Amino acid sequence: MQEIKFYSGENLPLELHKVRIVQKLNLVPIERRLEALYEGGFNTFRLSTRDVFLDMLTDSGTNAMSDNQLAAMMQADDAYAGSQSFERLHKAVKDVLGKKHLLPVHQGRAAENIISLAYVHKGSLVPMNYHFTTAMAHITDKGGQIVELLYDEAYKVNSDHPFKGNMNIEKLEEVIKHHGPKNIPFIRMEASTNLIGGQPFSVQNLRDVRALADKYSIRLVLDCSLLGENAYLVLQREEEFKGSDMKTVIQTMTALADLCYFSARKLSSSRGGGICTDSMEIFRELEALVPLYEGFLTYGGMSIREVEAMAVGLYETLDETMISQSPTFIKYLVGELDKKGIPVIKPAGVLGVHVDAMQVCAHIPQTEYPAGALAAALFLISGIRGMERGSISNQRDEYGNETYADMELLRLAVPRRVFTLSQIKYVEDRMTWLYDNRHLIGGLKFVYEPPVLRFFMGGLEPTSDWPQKLMAKFKEDFGESL
Ligand code: F0G
Repeated sequence: MQEIKFYSGENLPLELHKVRIVQKLNLVPIERRLEALYEGGFNTFRLSTRDVFLDMLTDSGTNAMSDNQLAAMMQADDAYAGSQSFERLHKAVKDVLGKKHLLPVHQGRAAENIISLAYVHKGSLVPMNYHFTTAMAHITDKGGQIVELLYDEAYKVNSDHPFKGNMNIEKLEEVIKHHGPKNIPFIRMEASTNLIGGQPFSVQNLRDVRALADKYSIRLVLDCSLLGENAYLVLQREEEFKGSDMKTVIQTMTALADLCYFSARKLSSSRGGGICTDSMEIFRELEALVPLYEGFLTYGGMSIREVEAMAVGLYETLDETMISQSPTFIKYLVGELDKKGIPVIKPAGVLGVHVDAMQVCAHIPQTEYPAGALAAALFLISGIRGMERGSISNQRDEYGNETYADMELLRLAVPRRVFTLSQIKYVEDRMTWLYDNRHLIGGLKFVYEPPVLRFFMGGLEPTSDWPQKLMAKFKEDFGESL
């Protein structure tokens, strides 16, 4: 894609779309934001959007849809079985992902449930570049375990490694030999590795994983939820693919996997999900589980309108202009925060900007959840809702002990084509103020802790009156400003 230069020399991301449907936002006073935090157990998942200004919780199901997607929704062919909308989706999967067979599911984790039900047993071990919360929960739910095999570089906040999501090939072979290939139902590779800052793997790395999968006859499963962005970064960063195109990169990657699955809430900017494969044997192994858990095989629990939007959205994933928008805005924000000395995951990845709470809140011990505290503090002083991606998002081990996360991150998601540059500048401004006042942020403790995926609905409270003190300082500096 051609770079667009400004006469002024400024390096700004430019919106390559026009906004034709808008939604009003609320920026409520800081006193109300404080109340909302107490009502929501200092957990940003439990806030109402009535109180949220910029919703940077996730890029899942929150992306701007295109005119063509909305138009397609109007031609939905609502039928329980044999819907033409499904035929259009099936064709899009063949054309874009290059896979013959498709099983529709209601979202990404439903695919993880079905794949785990079919292949994971007690004693199974699933090696992966890194876990995603729902992928891991479904594997452990079926009695399996996971092992994460990244290179050390992946855990470095300040890095210029282009492919921090690469699987550690040497360790992978060790694990396979040690555990025995028979106990490894599949290897899982996650495109644009979510929980380490949206970091991609290279095509070459995927080829190396494939070679080991072949050597030991193990299935290779590719989580394609963030595949479009991973492919975009391959175009930018992998020598072999300079000057190539999205379709070539995407299909080179999917061709290396036996089985691909995706959350369409990310890939294709719609809602829903799918599992696809070229293997009739794999298709048959999974097929019966879809009507049991999801819905008939031509809708898989999705609204048919979303099926239509997904088909169009998949084709749009091949458009580099479209797919570049979120990563370019992320790169800009990472660059600006970095200039101010705020520790963020580098190089800039996809999905969002990831602030290193371990450094920003170095005075808060991991036992008091620095990333959760930073998320709450940022909401309080700005109305910006981010997501804790640290120890709160981890689950306890089988003995009920805390397992502290490798990284304590505050994720500020940049959903596809939703925010304008001035909104991104507001994020930069408030994050900078918070960084300068970081000593006022204090810890959190659980008061209600659900046994599974506790981060969604768990309730916490501050360990002191730090939120009140932070609010007082905000009012001192900003006066009557919201
Ligand atoms: N895989 C990856 C890499 C994901 O990021 C997600 C969801 C899933 C699978 C599960 O898909 O939500 O449709 O069931 N990630 C969202 C997030 C929730 O906020 O990052 P789902």
